[in-house]
Amino acid sequence: MTIGFILNGEDVVIRCEGDVRLIDILRGNFALLGAKSGCLTGKCGVCSVIFNGRVSPACFIPAFRIRDSEIITIEGFSQTDEYQDIMTGFAQANIENCGYCDNGKILAAWALLERKERPSPEEILAGFSGIKCRCTDPEKLLEALTIMTDIRQRRLYGRAS
Ligand code: FES
Ligand code: FES
Repeated sequence: MTIGFILNGEDVVIRCEGDVRLIDILRGNFALLGAKSGCLTGKCGVCSVIFNGRVSPACFIPAFRIRDSEIITIEGFSQTDEYQDIMTGFAQANIENCGYCDNGKILAAWALLERKERPSPEEILAGFSGIKCRCTDPEKLLEALTIMTDIRQRRLYGRAS
């Protein structure tokens, strides 16, 4: 089938079978390697993308569902101010970069900040619970989110509330 959609702000068209996974399309057709291929069962979060405005696992989205959709991968998201806020928050909380789970962690942080200006500790831990990473201290995630929130509010409103 022929499928048109918007990928990182560009109109694109592909030809493929309707059941091919989005993660394989991104990595195979577009050489976008930021979303990783992990569990392929929707449980680890490393394949996350922003699909029609929501963070979703690209391993769970078949090609037929992407027609006319808008998809933003970490490569597109990395061009935004929000990405800079998040990366600064992780860095200042001393959370090291990780080639495996960063994609999921960054987009999970974005989803949290989009949902609520200042998420609670419970909401933050729940927001990261879908990312398979046992090596990041939850306390550091809480600290990173607080820092990100302050940075973002200063950028948007000129002050942290
Ligand atoms: S590879 Fe998609 S959730 Fe694990
Ligand atoms: S798997 Fe990436 S930091 Fe834990």
